[in-house]
Amino acid sequence: MSEPLLDVRNLSVTFHTARGPVQAVKNVSWSIKKGEVLAILGESGSGKSVSASAVMDLIDCPPGEITTGEIFYRGKNLLTMGRTERRHINGKKIAMIFQDPLSHLNPVYKVGWQIEETMVIHGTSRAEARAETLRLLAKVGIPEPKAAAQKYPHQFSGGQRQRLMIAMALALRPDVLIADEPTTALDVTVQAQILALLEELQRETGMALLIITHDLGVVAEIAHRVVVMN
Ligand SMILES: Nc1ncnc2c1ncn2[C@@H]1O[C@H](COP(=O)(O)OP(=O)(O)O)[C@@H](O)[C@H]1O
Ligand SMILES: [Mg+2]
Repeated sequence: MSEPLLDVRNLSVTFHTARGPVQAVKNVSWSIKKGEVLAILGESGSGKSVSASAVMDLIDCPPGEITTGEIFYRGKNLLTMGRTERRHINGKKIAMIFQDPLSHLNPVYKVGWQIEETMVIHGTSRAEARAETLRLLAKVGIPEPKAAAQKYPHQFSGGQRQRLMIAMALALRPDVLIADEPTTALDVTVQAQILALLEELQRETGMALLIITHDLGVVAEIAHRVVVMN
């Protein structure tokens, strides 16, 4: 049996607020292996996003605090390793997409440049990054990639913006993709298209896909295994 790529054990997160501590996540454990599609299902407020944010190092501390637990990536504890090593893993090996692409795409830069920049920061040459961006745009189903690369985020529909964020997340070829309610804000037809795209990309790349949702339909459609959070 293969080892899990990502292994969250006994994770607890508390926010220290003006009205006292809020325990957002309490003793949560889950793991995901290479090639697996895991769904985290749970009602709103059950701690799905906060636990994923803990994996990505996106919790503001303070007010947030990880009070218990470990998060292992390929057997290494993300919570105790050095900043540089962690940033390499969270920037490159584990990627995340969100419900609202507009808050994660910069409105003042052309989308092609934004995707290129992800790769350039990690050492790819500008020319190579540009070519790869066009390939990625085609792969996620953006028509006329060359023209699309020259546009700004507001010039795309909601479903297309979600495709752009997926392209950006895939640019560094992560081996885990965390998708936090990636289809919740979209209409039903577009939801189905985005799910089909994620499933296809997962199969093609062999990456692990963690999909966070409150939608049982999504789970039935693509998950190999389900974790329910209360
Ligand atoms: N920055 C924060 N400060 C205080 N409480 C927070 C903060 N972020 C999240 N929470 C609380 O943590 C709990 C879990 O939130 P979240 O993980 O976003 O739920 P969901 O399962 O809907 O994604 C909720 O009760 C939420 O109000
Ligand atoms: Mg959430």
